[in-house]
Amino acid sequence: MNWTMKQGFDRDWEYAVSIKVAREFSRFASQYGRYNLIQDQVANKLVLDTVLKPKRILDLGCGSGAIVKRLDWEIECFVGIDLAEGMLAEHPKRDRVECLLGDFNDFEWLGGLASWRFEHIYSASALQWATDIDGLLALLKTFKAPLSLGIFTCNTFKTLYETAGIPPLLRSADALIQSVKEVFDARLELVQYTLAFECKQDLFGYIKCSGVSGGRNLLGYRDTKRLMREYPSLTLEFEVLFIYTD
Ligand SMILES: C[S@@+](CC[C@H](N)C(=O)[O-])C[C@H]1O[C@@H](n2cnc3c(N)ncnc32)[C@H](O)[C@@H]1O
Repeated sequence: MNWTMKQGFDRDWEYAVSIKVAREFSRFASQYGRYNLIQDQVANKLVLDTVLKPKRILDLGCGSGAIVKRLDWEIECFVGIDLAEGMLAEHPKRDRVECLLGDFNDFEWLGGLASWRFEHIYSASALQWATDIDGLLALLKTFKAPLSLGIFTCNTFKTLYETAGIPPLLRSADALIQSVKEVFDARLELVQYTLAFECKQDLFGYIKCSGVSGGRNLLGYRDTKRLMREYPSLTLEFEVLFIYTD
C-alpha cells in the first residue's frame, strides 16, 4: 500500500450507532495499526500544525493513542476518551495520561469534562461519528480551548459508494464547513488522500479492517462480490476536513 495527498483551500438510534461503531473498532483494535495509514497522516498533521505546545490536552476518540504518541513536549495531563474498550486497551498508559471510556455524543457526560480546564482539544479521524455535529461544536466552544480536528467527509470511498449505488455515510465537506462557521472563526483545510493497493482483495480487506464502515454492513455477500468485480480501480479515496481554532 502507498498513499498520496492533494491539498485544497483554506437517543435510541444514536445509542445503537455508537455501540456499533465501538464494536467495529474493538473488533479490529489489535490490527488497527496495520490499517490506519491515512489516520496516521491525519494525527501527524494535527500535531505538527500545533504551534503553541499545550500542556492540558483532551483527545476525542483517542483510539490506540495516535495523538499522544506524537507529542514531543512536556504535558501536565492528557485525557483520551473513546467508546471502544478494545482501542483504549491499546492506548499508552503512563503518568499524566488518562483514558476514559465514554461517548462524545453524550453531551451531559462530555460537558462534565470542561472543569478539567483543557488548553487544547484534538480529535483525529473520529468526529465523522458525531451524531449531532452542530451540538458537539457548540459544546466544545464552552471548553474555551483551541481545537485541532480532522474529520473524514463523504468523499471518502467516493468511487466505492458510486459503484455500489448507495449513498455515502458521512457528511459532505460543505455541510461540515457550514456547521463550523456557525460556531467558530476557524482555519479550514480540505485534504484528499489516495491509497493504492496491489489487488482488490487487499483493497476490500483494508475497508473491512480499518473500521471505517462504522459497523454498517450495507451490502450482502452477493453484492459485495459484484462490487469487487465492478470496482474500477486499485485505489481508495479519502477526504479529510482539518479544522483549527485559536
Ligand atoms: C478511526 S479511529 C481514530 C483513532 C485515533 N484518533 C487515531 O487517530 O488513530 C476512530 C475512533 O473514534 C472512536 N469513536 C467513534 N465514535 C465515538 C464516540 N461516539 N465516542 C467516543 N469515541 C468514538 C472509535 O472507537 C475509534 O477509536
